Amino acid sequence: MTLQQFLNSKNFNSEINEILLNIESGSIKMYEKINEETDDIFGSSGQKNVQDEEVQKLDLIANDIFIHAFNTNSNIAKILSEENEDIIDLKNNGKYLIAMDPLDGSSNIDVNIPVGSIFSILKNTEDGFLQNGANQKLACYVIYGTTTMMVFAINQAAYGFTLNTKNKQYVLTHPNISTPNTGNIFSINEGNFNSMEKEIIEFINYCKELNPDGKRTHTGRFIGSLVADFHRNMLKGGIFIYPTTADRPQGQLRLIYECNPIAFIAKCSGGDSTNLTQNILDVKPKNIHQRTAFVVGSKQMVNQLLSLYKV
Ligand code: AHG
Ligand code: MN
Ligand code: MN
Repeated sequence: MTLQQFLNSKNFNSEINEILLNIESGSIKMYEKINEETDDIFGSSGQKNVQDEEVQKLDLIANDIFIHAFNTNSNIAKILSEENEDIIDLKNNGKYLIAMDPLDGSSNIDVNIPVGSIFSILKNTEDGFLQNGANQKLACYVIYGTTTMMVFAINQAAYGFTLNTKNKQYVLTHPNISTPNTGNIFSINEGNFNSMEKEIIEFINYCKELNPDGKRTHTGRFIGSLVADFHRNMLKGGIFIYPTTADRPQGQLRLIYECNPIAFIAKCSGGDSTNLTQNILDVKPKNIHQRTAFVVGSKQMVNQLLSLYKV
């Protein structure tokens, strides 16, 4: 079943369908850029973004591709992008807002490790982008990896489509994704080990405990592209943790366009998320590029970590 056939079979409203088709077309352009054209996709653009991070050429290409894809959609009033300090006002009364990380995993572009794009779709209300993640109508990511996949969540369900690169059609390969309640993968950048809260250290040590046979109980996986780390854990069962650290006192990941959409997809597939104080989806954002501590994954594992904070 192609994406278009899938949309025909569902009763999402036409605005949502149009947004999904915008993401489809933008992501196919991204696939073509990365895998077919390959010209000028590596290295730095020489610019820095609002968060003082070096902007890669592919960050800008992705930003342009998706802004262009959404530009002509009169249902979209505003776009918030990681790569733009200010909100982009499309100057129409569209019903929806889009927050995006056009290229997630920038540090992996030049070393041939999967990268992604992340989208959060909100209703255009007077709170603008400063709404709880629970308000999201649709959340989506694309992963440009071994295959190109588009995953989205809507109406409590999550679906995965894989790009057939011969005819450039997304095909439904993962109907109703359901994440395992627990798993054996833990994903964290242990370079930050010595500046993490003691509960996180305790949890990592728990993951490294051996079973009575002296064999490992968990496996560690962290590749530095949130989309890819989350996607693997969602399918196999696991936990992703990016806590506050000395280098990132507020956390590394951005609430509105990284954590919220991933947390929404996690929830719709049966997983859970937290900022270690409350559910990520219940956090009311204070500013558009706000960072947060982020934990997402299998319910039982998230609860296990949270239980360490209660003693
Ligand atoms: P981005 O490329 O959009 O800036 O996001 C990178 C994020 C995320 O994808 C990843 O999990 C994390 O940063 C990695 O951070 P560290 O390099 O500190 O591990
Ligand atoms: Mn990112
Ligand atoms: Mn990014």
